[in-house]
Amino acid sequence: MYTVLVYLILLTRVQSFPFDQFLHDQSDSVLNFLKEQSRQVEHALTSSYDRAVQVKNSFDSYVEEQRNKINTEINSCIENVKDRGRQIADSFTYLPTEEADAKLQNPDVTLTVPARVARNGYRCETHTVVSNGYLLNLHRIPHSKNDRKISPKTILLQHGIFASSADWIMNGPGKALAYVLADAGYDVWMSNIRGNRYSKEHAWLKTNTKSYWNFSWHDVALHDIPNIIDYIMKLKGEGTKITYIGHSMGTTILFAMLTLRPEYNNILTAGYALAPVIFMSDFKSPIKSLASVGKNVAHMEMLYGSHEFLPKNSMFGEIVSSCNVDYIDDKICKNFIFQLCGENEKQYNETLLPVFLSHYGAGTSWKTVLHFAQEILARNKFQQFDFGPSNNQRMYGSDQPPEYDLSKITLPIHLYWARNDLLSSEKDVKMLLDKLPSTTEAYLVPDPKFNHLDYLWAIDASTLINSQMLSSLQSTFEDHL
Ligand SMILES: *[C@@H]1O[C@H](CO)[C@@H](O)[C@H](O)[C@H]1NC(C)=O
Ligand SMILES: *[C@@H]1O[C@H](CO)[C@@H](O)[C@H](O)[C@H]1NC(C)=O
Repeated sequence: MYTVLVYLILLTRVQSFPFDQFLHDQSDSVLNFLKEQSRQVEHALTSSYDRAVQVKNSFDSYVEEQRNKINTEINSCIENVKDRGRQIADSFTYLPTEEADAKLQNPDVTLTVPARVARNGYRCETHTVVSNGYLLNLHRIPHSKNDRKISPKTILLQHGIFASSADWIMNGPGKALAYVLADAGYDVWMSNIRGNRYSKEHAWLKTNTKSYWNFSWHDVALHDIPNIIDYIMKLKGEGTKITYIGHSMGTTILFAMLTLRPEYNNILTAGYALAPVIFMSDFKSPIKSLASVGKNVAHMEMLYGSHEFLPKNSMFGEIVSSCNVDYIDDKICKNFIFQLCGENEKQYNETLLPVFLSHYGAGTSWKTVLHFAQEILARNKFQQFDFGPSNNQRMYGSDQPPEYDLSKITLPIHLYWARNDLLSSEKDVKMLLDKLPSTTEAYLVPDPKFNHLDYLWAIDASTLINSQMLSSLQSTFEDHL
């Protein structure tokens, strides 16, 4: 990476690389450093022929030296941002104080995840993992309320699209998975995807640039989750066992990772996929009809427009505006959610709606949205990002993007699915099950109306999901001791 930076600087002499744009994307301290490097190189190349030859001859050592310098600079920048990132993630609330005051009737609406966990009497830690320069903040509940011993049995929870670690605590102690798992003695880690409220900072890119938002869940699967797993393994040391649990896009990320980085089939203990979103041939949500339109809009936005996708600012957001925390029309909003995700009056707890909405709707990249629209249109293919025929040739060496090769998966997988989940249909879950190893287990949630979001807020979460999951996890970890 750093070598590449130096080469880029040198190349500006020769090619018309859009250097200004490149610099524009960098944070100020890296920017000043790069400018100085560029000036020095330019000076060497223009002062005299001998000097230029000298530079050319000592090119290797020069690159090495610059790389170290840039490394040091970037590391200190990372440390700097890491401290700031930590403060943001650990602060009490993410709303301006005056606004927070107005909303104190229900503190869960305004408080950050660490504050909410602490308020319920659990210990909560924030850990920062740097991946491709993104500062990913993880929230950890290391043990139960009473027993302070930290178990080697570790759970990594990965949320879905537009969401955050808040998903796993929303249903409150006794019901929400993060608390239930901590109570059962597991060391619980909740990751936050790059670009969301808790993982917004980047070591050298500004957050309003195209380069910053140039990712989809593919990149999270390829870099971020492996870096997070490595971090936890290193921190906890030998004997650590990690089981991954993902919801919705969290499952997409899991399966993509197990095919792109097959070594993690051996590092993890098991993978749990709640509401798997892998094949979308039988996608029943009305979002489907938006996919083909959405694909073009998303493509244009990705190329020319704003690079961050904010649900609130989109066509989608217009429809959801009645679902804004500041102005909730409970009924319209509930119906809207039911329409998109499946109706289930029985498991729906309306006091959680404002809490859900205040934490939901974190921005993501247009590329993520576009990648999903492509998956819906590709129907029964689970494949990498489609750049269009000519760019696919350049990127992948073929007109079509490569499929994720599910035959590489050897990890024990547990699929959790439900009959009324409009985003994860029976047909698609069966198709996935067929392609996974024979050790795969599928659990049908015993409520015919259970929907995509009920995993996060179901009134009967304990009997429908948690008890089954706890016994399954127990045997999973026992198999590994
Ligand atoms: C975005 O990433 C692709 C590779 O995935 C790369 O070819 C392209 O140059 C990147 N664009 C920007 C603006 O960083
Ligand atoms: C709904 O959620 C609130 C807040 O977590 C909780 O106090 C209440 O018991 C829940 N209602 C039901 C019916 O479970």
